[in-house]
Amino acid sequence: MPLVNLLGSKGKLVLGTLLICAVILELAYCQKDAQEQRPTPGTRPKPSKPKPGKTTNKGPRAVTAKPKIKATPAAQAQPLLTQVLNKGKFKKVGEAVSVQTGDTLELRCRGKPVSWSVPTYLEEEDDGRLSIVQHERYGALTLVNTTGADTGEYTCYPMYCEDTDCRKEYGKAVKVFVFFPDPQELFVPSSDYYEVIQLRTNWPTVLPCQVTSPEAKVTLHREYPPVEVAVDGTEISFNVKKGFTIHRPRPYHAGALYCVASLGNLRQSSTKYMLIYVNYPMAPPAPVIQASSTSVVVGENLRVSCIVVGEQNVAVEFTWEYPGQQSGRPPYTQESVSPVGGGAAQQQSQSVLLVDEVRDVDQGTYTCTAHNLQGAKSVSATVKVVPKAKAKKP
Ligand SMILES: *[C@@H]1O[C@H](CO)[C@@H](O)[C@H](O)[C@H]1NC(C)=O
Repeated sequence: MPLVNLLGSKGKLVLGTLLICAVILELAYCQKDAQEQRPTPGTRPKPSKPKPGKTTNKGPRAVTAKPKIKATPAAQAQPLLTQVLNKGKFKKVGEAVSVQTGDTLELRCRGKPVSWSVPTYLEEEDDGRLSIVQHERYGALTLVNTTGADTGEYTCYPMYCEDTDCRKEYGKAVKVFVFFPDPQELFVPSSDYYEVIQLRTNWPTVLPCQVTSPEAKVTLHREYPPVEVAVDGTEISFNVKKGFTIHRPRPYHAGALYCVASLGNLRQSSTKYMLIYVNYPMAPPAPVIQASSTSVVVGENLRVSCIVVGEQNVAVEFTWEYPGQQSGRPPYTQESVSPVGGGAAQQQSQSVLLVDEVRDVDQGTYTCTAHNLQGAKSVSATVKVVPKAKAKKP
């Protein structure tokens, strides 16, 4: 969020859709024997009683086990994600798993307590298919009557608790991407007929056409002219868990695009993506302020300039705060944009605040705030007003 500047006047920019989350798969590989989590069918979660230190009491089996091989307190700290298969079999999960649509997805994550995150659609639509239960030593996530739409990332976060105050330990999250291959729907269904996506200069853009099967072959297409877009892996790449990424958007990437998935003799098109190119600044502006003089004699004119040198074609807006404001001095500014010589494509944006015939009320701090789509920065200068010199100056 901090990267997004919410200028009211630019409200139409739907920045929310632009937040590109770098999905870092920090899959902690399981090193422990999943058998240890074998459930007793029908066991109710035992009431958690506070135990001092680590929870190593696993019944007689664990107690007699040699710590070297079996559960050690250290191993316990690492959450461990397992998939519960039929007949009480457990499987450590890697980066991705496939579950047949209609089947039940059951994940267990070691930790007490743990917190889960699921694909947004599941979070928003509670139709009773998802249940999350915290047991004494692990959290269990169960999703029944699954469909291709459930495809996505499932994450377990161990929680760090102090008394009743718990927070997610993001660094220790364990993620698994679950595909639910749907024989009818190659793409995870979207509720929108089309999606508007902004292409920002130098910001990777994701076209989130998500397939339900990792086996599907996915290509990218442009509507007009109807061509397949080359995916070279550098400029544009494809990730079966994410969709297509345009790494360094350029104006020519704009337009209507869509994905096509094929598997067997099924071929389907995704939602349409309307890509709009925006000259988006890399950083907030860095204004420099300068007053024509730090000490002005009553009756003289004052100029305070605020200058931003930045990327070309990136609009900068200026606002001013000045001492005369309270006493109703009208703002009187001159703004200009001019190219900057030299190799880099830069421009200088300038706002000059002019104060004619300075009076005592004009003494004080002049603050210029420069805004662009990436943020705002203020700079100030102090101006002193001195009385008209009746006698000779030193
Ligand atoms: C799952 O599907 C079965 C059979 O269609 C149905 O009886 C059951 O109510 C469904 N469960 C949930 C939680 O939707």
